[in-house]
Amino acid sequence: MIAPPKPELVTVNIDGREVAVPKGTNVIEAAKLAGVDVPHYCYHPKLTVVGNCRMCLVEMGLPAVDPATKQPVLDAATGKQKINWMPRPTIGCATNASPGLHIRTTTPLVRECREGVMEFLLINHPLDCPICDQAGECKLQEQATDYGRGYSRYIEPKNVKPKRTQLGSRVTLDDERCILCSRCIRFCKEVAKDDVLGFIDRGSHSTLTCYPGKRLENNYSLNTVDICPVGALTSTDFRFKMRVWFLKQADSIDFESSAGANTVVWSREGVIYRLTPRRNDEVNDTWMADSGRLLYKQVRAEDRLNEIRVKGLAALPQAAKAEAAAVLGAGQVAVVGSGRSSVEEQFATRRLAAALKGPAWLVSRVGEGDGILVSADRNPNVRGALATGLIRRLPAAKLTELAAQIDAGEIKAVVSIGEDLAAAGLTPAQLAKVAIIYLGTHRNATSEAARVVFPTLTVFEKRGSFINQQFRIQKFAAAVPGPGGATDDLAILQSLIVIAGGTLAADVGVLWETMAKECPVFGAVRFANIPGTGLLLDGSAWAGLPFAEKAGLKYQPAEKAAEPSTPSGGEPLSKA
Ligand code: SF4
Ligand code: FES
Repeated sequence: MIAPPKPELVTVNIDGREVAVPKGTNVIEAAKLAGVDVPHYCYHPKLTVVGNCRMCLVEMGLPAVDPATKQPVLDAATGKQKINWMPRPTIGCATNASPGLHIRTTTPLVRECREGVMEFLLINHPLDCPICDQAGECKLQEQATDYGRGYSRYIEPKNVKPKRTQLGSRVTLDDERCILCSRCIRFCKEVAKDDVLGFIDRGSHSTLTCYPGKRLENNYSLNTVDICPVGALTSTDFRFKMRVWFLKQADSIDFESSAGANTVVWSREGVIYRLTPRRNDEVNDTWMADSGRLLYKQVRAEDRLNEIRVKGLAALPQAAKAEAAAVLGAGQVAVVGSGRSSVEEQFATRRLAAALKGPAWLVSRVGEGDGILVSADRNPNVRGALATGLIRRLPAAKLTELAAQIDAGEIKAVVSIGEDLAAAGLTPAQLAKVAIIYLGTHRNATSEAARVVFPTLTVFEKRGSFINQQFRIQKFAAAVPGPGGATDDLAILQSLIVIAGGTLAADVGVLWETMAKECPVFGAVRFANIPGTGLLLDGSAWAGLPFAEKAGLKYQPAEKAAEPSTPSGGEPLSKA
């Protein structure tokens, strides 16, 4: 485990309370650390500060110093250093905490400022919260309860602006609700590096739009929906499908690549409605890719496996296990693990290969990294396979060595943990030569050719952990139950290990005790003590491997060692 560095602290006074905050923290964040909420709209912790909404006005003061002697000026009544309060309120988002800074957030002046800003913002904003998709998570609605006037003094006709504008294929804009905070504009420019949004016209006629000839189509477009403080930007996929207060939240990980963006899965009664990013300053800040948000659709996909099958026919678990025992008992079995499996499943896969005294392989998936949060390695957990000892070198995309072993008659059966062997290079003739036991979530050529099929769970239906490109171990929770007929991968792996003559606990907590003993990289890490933001492991033992990832949002690749000869598959385990 690698401990994060400690920040330098400065002491500020917020509403009469002294609080130590990291140097460089702005007043909004400093107040938050003191448990004080400073309302704001345009400020976002991961974007540049523009100071255009004025909702964060507070009173500020600095300790008085005699300009001639540079000595503190003392208050005659209290004997303490006098505070020079600024004559006018100041915006908190653009002021950084400095030693001795004094802030007041509860004075009549501050309240009056907030009420004034709210009245201006609501002049042209539709007052139809009950039918707005943002209801329940709208910052304007929340502040209106504290600082709203309750009635409008505005008698002129409201501005009419475009409604239901498709900014791109995934984002719909209702311009009348836009409060011109410019968060979405800054996000596109600063994070997505796709400068497509801007304001046209002046004053209360200012309107958000795409630049002529451009569309909001980048793979991060839905982050603008997350950060829009009102209901102006909405997700075309999610809008008007479900009220957010009905949804349960479960922490998860974006498993489309090894970047490992932290996510929240929103579900109701076993149905997932949306995925949003979860803040982790060490991995993804507050962002995630649009492509990762669609992964939940695989839960209810048409081709989902939901019944145990033996030789193509539905079967009971006992019959499937008996068939599996016959296949494994004949020997000469290879195991194809997965870079999409959790750390715990990969450890169990390794144990299975060891019990079978057969080789274990992994299949790589490499694409183009986008330099942000989709890395080149499209497997979320290749480092987990290294850490658990399932492989010792990086995998290749094709199982050419396994294919050769099948052709040579050395391998007679294959256990595949979610990998489509046909996509990994095995020909139909080679598939026909081996008895396949397939554990997986969706139909493919391998499940169709398999002797035994055990339907398993998607990441959204089970718990476990992944190790991302930084060697940060992060855990995910079950958000919804799996479909009837599907079983947790770990439980099936445990049954197969027992059939093969080995032992392993299917309980994650117990399994971690065994894993930590056998895999030194985990040290004192246990599943229960992995925090929500993950733990950085010491991956120096694998620093010389030619990992596929290039620099990303929070990732810098280590200096690479000389490229070894390209392996044609995973690492066969010792047959001892
Ligand atoms: S659409 Fe939303 S995020 Fe963009 S400027 Fe308007 S209020 Fe701000
Ligand atoms: S948050 Fe908008 S001005 Fe400070």
